[in-house]
Amino acid sequence: MKKTVAIDGPAGAGKSTIAKLVAEKLGYIYIDTGAMYRAVAWKVLDAGVEPTDDNIVDVAKKIDVRLRFVGDAVRVFAGDTDVTEAIRTPEVTALVSQVAQLGPVREKMVELQRSMAKDGGVVMDGRDIASNVLPNADVKIFLTASIEERALRRWKEMKAKGYEEPMDKLTAEIEARDKADSTRTISPLVRVPEAALLDTTGLTIDEVVQKVMGLCG
Ligand code: DC
Repeated sequence: MKKTVAIDGPAGAGKSTIAKLVAEKLGYIYIDTGAMYRAVAWKVLDAGVEPTDDNIVDVAKKIDVRLRFVGDAVRVFAGDTDVTEAIRTPEVTALVSQVAQLGPVREKMVELQRSMAKDGGVVMDGRDIASNVLPNADVKIFLTASIEERALRRWKEMKAKGYEEPMDKLTAEIEARDKADSTRTISPLVRVPEAALLDTTGLTIDEVVQKVMGLCG
């Protein structure tokens, strides 16, 4: 039977890296829900409108966000524009927490996410997957790591993309995002009691993948 696997956790815990590899191993589809909120933030910046809550909701209502396979890789589209790389800039990252806390934005994204998961065979990562998007997921995992390790991973990721950011700035940004994601009113980041807690601090990617595969049975 094709299962649904929900992976939640804070920024920089390694969710997307692990979810992608686990999906590959299982022959499942990987759904990066953070990328969908990022696509809305990207569109707001691209449209050049003032990022007020009203304008963001307006953009979210009109946007056609899709995750499409191009060859073996999942790419993120806003309408016909491939925004896979554009949604990872510091500007988008700075705006996305505001975008993700708005009810009408979440409603639209959650509906899309549920429809993508309806036939099973998906690994979905985000903040509210087990608690809200797929409360009946077969496997629920909460992935985390120390703040120092998460900041270091973000630093390496940014450097590989040509952005040199000071560590203390990245740490502060991650802490701010943790706070925004966990304290917002609608669907905050929480670990549901039945989710397996996996602390990836000090573990290699391979080790984490093995553990997650074990949990997927
Ligand atoms: O995982 P990420 O950094 O790409 O997520 C981007 C933002 O979107 C992050 O601030 C949290 C938010 N998010 C959310 O609120 N719910 C999700 N299911 C996924 C991401």
